[in-house]
Amino acid sequence: MKLLTVIGARPQFIKAATVSRAIAARQDITEVIVHTGQHYDANMSDIFFDELSIPRPDHHLGIGGGSHGAMTGRQIEAIERVLLDEKPDMVLVYGDTNSTLAGALAAVKLHIPVAHVEAGLRSFNRRMPEEINRILTDHASDLLFAPTTTAMKNLSNEGLPRARMHLVGDVMYDACLFYGAQARKPAWFDPLSISEGDYVLATVHRAENTDDPVRLAGILQGLAGAERPVILPVHPRTQKQIESLGLSTPAHLHLVPPVGYLEMVWLEKHCAVIATDSGGVQKEAYFHGKPCVTLRDETEWVELVDVGANILVGANRERISNAIVGVGVMEIKSPLYGVGNSASVILSVMASRLSAASEVGIDS
Ligand code: UD1
Ligand code: UDP
Repeated sequence: MKLLTVIGARPQFIKAATVSRAIAARQDITEVIVHTGQHYDANMSDIFFDELSIPRPDHHLGIGGGSHGAMTGRQIEAIERVLLDEKPDMVLVYGDTNSTLAGALAAVKLHIPVAHVEAGLRSFNRRMPEEINRILTDHASDLLFAPTTTAMKNLSNEGLPRARMHLVGDVMYDACLFYGAQARKPAWFDPLSISEGDYVLATVHRAENTDDPVRLAGILQGLAGAERPVILPVHPRTQKQIESLGLSTPAHLHLVPPVGYLEMVWLEKHCAVIATDSGGVQKEAYFHGKPCVTLRDETEWVELVDVGANILVGANRERISNAIVGVGVMEIKSPLYGVGNSASVILSVMASRLSAASEVGIDS
């Protein structure tokens, strides 16, 4: 089977790393990797290929930046050309970025089956670009790999056929288990004179937070009001906004460039609490037993809120500071995201789907 993977943004490199590793262990699947170029800085892209040993992309499209329509449209056009040339048996997409949607749309229109990893996630906030990307990708996909029972229910509620859905757990948990053992302390950590176990680890990059000056200022002030040092690896989108709005930050709020995954995991393992608007980082907080203060008004990972691992505080300065100061120690109650074998389950499902299709001689 020839599988063509479309990736382009930071969280997709981390998700795909676990699946690419599982593919390499099989004889029956070859993978062609297409990097759309959505994320392009070395510390948003290359670093993950290097440190997670992801195979080099076979095709690099170099399409990042610009408006949603321009980026997605150019990506669809370029992916379509690659698909016509490579003629894969199936296309694999991850998550909810513009690269995800572009990969799914290009493939489905060429009648190539699409597999979507992280299917069924919903925030029910249609103003989020990711929400539109998720819904459209799920409805274009032939195989829906849902990480949670909530995601399965969301897919059912939208009338998607049960036969397409597979509850497989979360590939990010696979990544956490495998790469977590290789976590690495950043070289800049000791010179900051911050004690391990006594800092807030924060990330902010959602459009709804960065593009709204009031929300972004509220978040930075809320983080600054935490009674601990804060380490904030800054996404380039956020860095640009902080600079253009001229927002100032106090000395105990340490803004550092984006880090690689191995350093990120070290920071997650050694912090006191995580404050984030990232989807992936909310789950990683849970994996590493850290309480999470989520800088959003809603989350797709509702089970984290239900078990008390995650508190939603939006972008309100006081709520953020109070939540960070008030968090206790998190007790891990149950494995919410599978058992760490999602990648191999996904590959087994894809392989049997394609062999069943070829046996009955239908156009898979
Ligand atoms: C994208 C995804 C979001 C995901 C996030 C992961 C969409 C709609 N959004 O958001 O779902 O959570 O990636 O990080 O697909 N930039 C750089 N260098 C880079 C990458 C981005 O400078 O390597 C800057 C550019 O100014 C760019 C801006 O960040 O225009 C936004 O990048 P974009 O990929 O459009 O969206 P993200 O905010 O990264
Ligand atoms: N991450 C990283 N370095 C950073 C910030 C995040 O390696 O400086 C990792 C993080 O551990 C998680 C993933 O990137 O695995 C989450 O990506 P991001 O927050 O950009 O996107 P989202 O998950 O919100 O779509």
